[in-house]
Amino acid sequence: MKSKNIDRTINSIAELPTLPTIYMKLSRILNVQNSSIRMISNIISEDLAVSAMVLKIVNSPLYGFHNKIGDMQRAIVILGLNEIKNLVLATSMYKTIKQLKSSSTFDIQEFWKHSIGCAILAKVLAETAYIKNPEDVFTGGLLHDIGKLIHVTYLREEFEGVVANVVETGSQMFESEKKILGFDHTQTGSALAKKWCLPRKTINMIANHHLSDTPDTLTKEVAAVHIGNILCISLRMGSGGEKRVPIINQKAWKILDLKLSDLEYIMQRSTKLFEESISNMELN
Ligand SMILES: [Fe+2]
Ligand SMILES: [Fe+2]
Repeated sequence: MKSKNIDRTINSIAELPTLPTIYMKLSRILNVQNSSIRMISNIISEDLAVSAMVLKIVNSPLYGFHNKIGDMQRAIVILGLNEIKNLVLATSMYKTIKQLKSSSTFDIQEFWKHSIGCAILAKVLAETAYIKNPEDVFTGGLLHDIGKLIHVTYLREEFEGVVANVVETGSQMFESEKKILGFDHTQTGSALAKKWCLPRKTINMIANHHLSDTPDTLTKEVAAVHIGNILCISLRMGSGGEKRVPIINQKAWKILDLKLSDLEYIMQRSTKLFEESISNMELN
């Protein structure tokens, strides 16, 4: 399907999840010079559920701070604005997912765990490969399969067919989606991210995480999410509906310049972080 048609599909779905006003306000204010930490902290604190969740994540083993960070201003000073903005986005996604219902064939709870698992693996990969701003890769990992949420919510019947096709044929989900829907979740997900005006880097990670056709300019961020997703499936951290473990793209492995012993460390560290964090972030 041509990208214009996907944009049309996205636009025709009237009730697509909107980016919460808090994230938009935050993006706007961060573009204004002289915005003070207090102003930013006030915006986040307007939404009690979001600010509570951000502080919960900041105090989780994911960050490993010894002393508890009790207020938003301190969190902003310690983590920096970019990281806080990413966390607000993560929390917004959590709130959106929480309202969705699982179908008989697609489990939202498992999907959320898969998203967290991929985000953690991608971040640890990024840190180990010395990629700048690993927190941006965390966000890319968290959102990589967001297109599936559009399918399960707005194309429910057709998506049941996709899930059945994955089971029957052992294809990867994006292959079955292409066959049945005419487009896949990397396309709808990246179109949604574009609509949300997310950074180009994030859109790229969503659009290319399967590396079905390797883009001319493969970035390290895309490679980290690609490998993070595959490791997440093989370690069975939640499930995004895949029935077999895909093969890692060789170019992606090469560009990160990692050794096999790094991989062992990455899997161990990520498993530990996943287990310690997931109970804090369970959908309930
Ligand atoms: Fe995917
Ligand atoms: Fe995935």
